[in-house]
Amino acid sequence: MSTQLTPILTKFWDDPQSWTLETYEKHDGYKALKKALGMPQADLVQVTKDSGLRGRGGAGFPTGMKWGFLPAPDGGPRYLVVNADESEPGTCKDIPLMMAAPQFLIEGVAITSFAIGCNHAFIYLRGEVVHVYRRLLRAVEEAYAKGYLGKNIMGTGFDLDVTVHAGAGAYICGEETALLDSLEGRRGQPRLKPPFPAVAGLYARPTVVNNVESIASVPPILLHGADWFSGMGTEKSTGFGIFSLSGHVTRPGQYEAPLGITLRELLDMAGGMRGGKKLKFWTPGGSSTPLFTDEHLDTPLDFESVAAAGSMLGTRALQIFDETTCVVRAVERWTDFYAHESCGKCTPCREGTYWLKQILTRLEHGEGSEEDLEKLLDICDNILGRAFCALGDGATSPITSSIQYFREEYLAHLEHGGCPFDRNASTLFAKETVSA
Ligand SMILES: Cc1cc2nc3c(=O)[nH]c(=O)nc-3n(C[C@H](O)[C@H](O)[C@H](O)COP(=O)(O)O)c2cc1C
Ligand code: SF4
Repeated sequence: MSTQLTPILTKFWDDPQSWTLETYEKHDGYKALKKALGMPQADLVQVTKDSGLRGRGGAGFPTGMKWGFLPAPDGGPRYLVVNADESEPGTCKDIPLMMAAPQFLIEGVAITSFAIGCNHAFIYLRGEVVHVYRRLLRAVEEAYAKGYLGKNIMGTGFDLDVTVHAGAGAYICGEETALLDSLEGRRGQPRLKPPFPAVAGLYARPTVVNNVESIASVPPILLHGADWFSGMGTEKSTGFGIFSLSGHVTRPGQYEAPLGITLRELLDMAGGMRGGKKLKFWTPGGSSTPLFTDEHLDTPLDFESVAAAGSMLGTRALQIFDETTCVVRAVERWTDFYAHESCGKCTPCREGTYWLKQILTRLEHGEGSEEDLEKLLDICDNILGRAFCALGDGATSPITSSIQYFREEYLAHLEHGGCPFDRNASTLFAKETVSA
């Protein structure tokens, strides 16, 4: 495993006006599209399969295989929809990528659309980020003006229109089928699957839904080859990815590195824990992934190793919390988010997240009882695997994992009659005082 960073999508973020087409072209921009338009479509799907690229939106589904699921062309439209909703707490890679180097995404959209036989692609962006929306619109405009989008691209006869759509701001609209409903103008709620989007997606037509980073990774793969990509990372989690370090770290930000790097290595590059404090807990892939502790500093951050250690790689959103943080308070805040964002379609999540929030609030204020911990676990058990979509499952992750690792701290709240952390001083209590 390498300890080196692999700046590819982040390579020229420091250039002046890194977001322009001119800058992108200086860094080999649109050479991959030129190559792609001279290749048979099936070969493009095969290169993507051979590279081992797995979806960067969280679940890690193999990208080339997803493209290969589309039924044979029947003369009707087929769509590519890019998921740019990025609303998971802690996840902050797609938005910086679209701000700093949006042409990676636009070129990736053009190549993928050609590969799957799509003539109209959509980018569904989270609505609150108006600055990103403007940047994307401008990037699309520049690509049209240069003939990389529109009619008869590079004289090949391939036509492609790209629509950038700003959603109204809901976490659930990142779930791919809720996203499609929202894009069609309906309330964003997950659809029953099957049929999967590959068969009946946008406007009931065959559709590929991919994450921003997945699609932006396509041009470098095509330019440098599948072996180049699969030579990075681990055997089953190939390539590079953007790791977003946030929280109590000296230099938070985006670190693009091969999958399989560890948090210890990333922290070394990020200047360590802020103020020399001790690491207490962290999320490997956003708030929907079970918490890790300092025991997991050397867990390779690839899909398999993180799963074997009891969590999920998710979106590589590494939220880092030091010893001064109250884990109960952090989990209560995340649960508040899930209760607010629950779309209400299914009972386990709609009712369950509401009750989880009530119980956590009283525990944080030292007002509950030890039985509340069992109640929390029981409600989580009734959500996990029984909710209609993965939002419900994700809501249980911080709760069950925090009770697993920090049960004592929950009990300390009860013994102390409130939060034992001094929020104003941002320091904790003495554990001994509380448990004495
Ligand atoms: C509640 C919820 C929110 C999601 N939000 C996003 C998101 O913001 N961006 C994203 O790419 N995928 C998100 N996903 C995952 C998508 O459903 C889908 O798996 C992904 O877009 C597929 O792209 P990929 O194969 O390129 O990873 C979310 C899933 C759930 C259940
Ligand atoms: S799990 Fe939650 S977000 Fe998903 S469908 Fe059910 S209520 Fe909606």
